[in-house]
Amino acid sequence: MEGAATILKRSQSALVAVAVGLVVAGLCLFVFSLDATWVAAASVVATAVAMTLLSGRASEKAADVLAVDADPTGSLFSPLAREVFEHFPDPLMLLDSSDRVLFVNPPMRAIVGTATERKYVSSILRTPNVLAALAHTARSGESGSVEFTFHVPVERTYRAYTMRAGTDPMVTALLLHDLTAMKRNEQMRVDFVANASHELRTPLAAVTGFIETLKGHAKDDTPAREKFLDIMSVEAGRMRRLIDDLLSLSRVELNEHVPPSGEVALESVARQAVTALSPLARAENIMIEIASAPDLPAVTGERDELIQLFQNLIHNAIKYGKQGGHVWVNLALSPGPSARGTDAFVAVSIRDDGEGIPPDAVPRLTERFYRVDVKRSREKGGTGLGLAIVKHIANRHHGRLQIESRAGEGSTFTVYLPVSRAPLLAPAAAAAK
Ligand SMILES: Nc1ncnc2c1ncn2[C@@H]1O[C@H](COP(=O)(O)OP(=O)(O)OP(=O)(O)O)[C@@H](O)[C@H]1O
Ligand SMILES: [Mg+2]
Repeated sequence: MEGAATILKRSQSALVAVAVGLVVAGLCLFVFSLDATWVAAASVVATAVAMTLLSGRASEKAADVLAVDADPTGSLFSPLAREVFEHFPDPLMLLDSSDRVLFVNPPMRAIVGTATERKYVSSILRTPNVLAALAHTARSGESGSVEFTFHVPVERTYRAYTMRAGTDPMVTALLLHDLTAMKRNEQMRVDFVANASHELRTPLAAVTGFIETLKGHAKDDTPAREKFLDIMSVEAGRMRRLIDDLLSLSRVELNEHVPPSGEVALESVARQAVTALSPLARAENIMIEIASAPDLPAVTGERDELIQLFQNLIHNAIKYGKQGGHVWVNLALSPGPSARGTDAFVAVSIRDDGEGIPPDAVPRLTERFYRVDVKRSREKGGTGLGLAIVKHIANRHHGRLQIESRAGEGSTFTVYLPVSRAPLLAPAAAAAK
């Protein structure tokens, strides 16, 4: 269509040029009574000049259109500067004097989306303190810096720097620096000291007490010594487990905002978790059954983290399930927890026929160190960190954890993980994963 329009425009320009040439020839012939050679030469020159002027205007117009439509920053900075900004690792946005977006680089696009061109900044960035800082900088020319946090999908904290450049045209720049990892480190240090010291105090007190006893009146009592050493070994084991869990929690939290990149077949992951826990299930005389829908698509994920997620859930189902009862592991395609749209998730549910969980406790289960029955959890060697780890792994995988339970009727923990956009894994490849 565009080509046809261009040909039409060019033909019109040529006709106009030829007409100009003929008029000039007529004037030469009838007004100035010049001879045929001069008439022909004048008409050719007039046609050529007219064509040059007309095509020059057309190409000027085309250049204007390109500069405005394809690249609103074209007249502001050179291709070299643009390339540098594009490759800048931190998110960058440039605004014109009326607060409309002139440019966003790829890291900024990951935050504000791709449809930003010529939009008002307030329609794509809904953080009042950043908008206020931009307005202040645009008005006063003073650079500014504010901190802000996005809460969804995963909490991220940034420091936003605002600065103004030029006067005509005037450009305001917004540069973001990601503080998420630093904030997480700070928070984790604080939590570690508060919770871990609290949890370590009990077993440490027991070990210290028994050391004193062994140094004192139980020094020569061989049966008592053996018994106390056994207890000390159990308490030391609890401290080791607590430290292991804290370390895995901190690892998962640190990486939570880094999306996983592998392709994982969940059925093989679930089977591996069940195999690892089957001795514990046998000890409680619990039967574990796995059922999987055929040809399940892979999910995008980190295999080791997903194994840990399912081990924590299946371990809980064994610990808090019914002795001599059942644990059912079911894998299926699902539209997700809100059941909207198409089958975009693989849902893995772990159901037990244990005592269930009181309704008011359900929303608190994923808090660190939260346990419905602290004594029972401790007896079973629990640290109260298992479901906190599950939640962070699910978050990192853009998944969801759903807990359904009725007192006396058992519990179902379902993890929804988004289907990978990569093609279905061949059975051999899936088995190898
Ligand atoms: N399937 C379940 N049935 C009943 N209660 C459960 C179930 N799963 C978890 N809970 C309750 O939730 C609490 C928290 O679980 P979580 O896995 O975080 O910690 P834990 O099992 O006590 O210890 P850890 O997993 O760190 O060894 C448990 O103490 C228990 O009270
Ligand atoms: Mg647990």
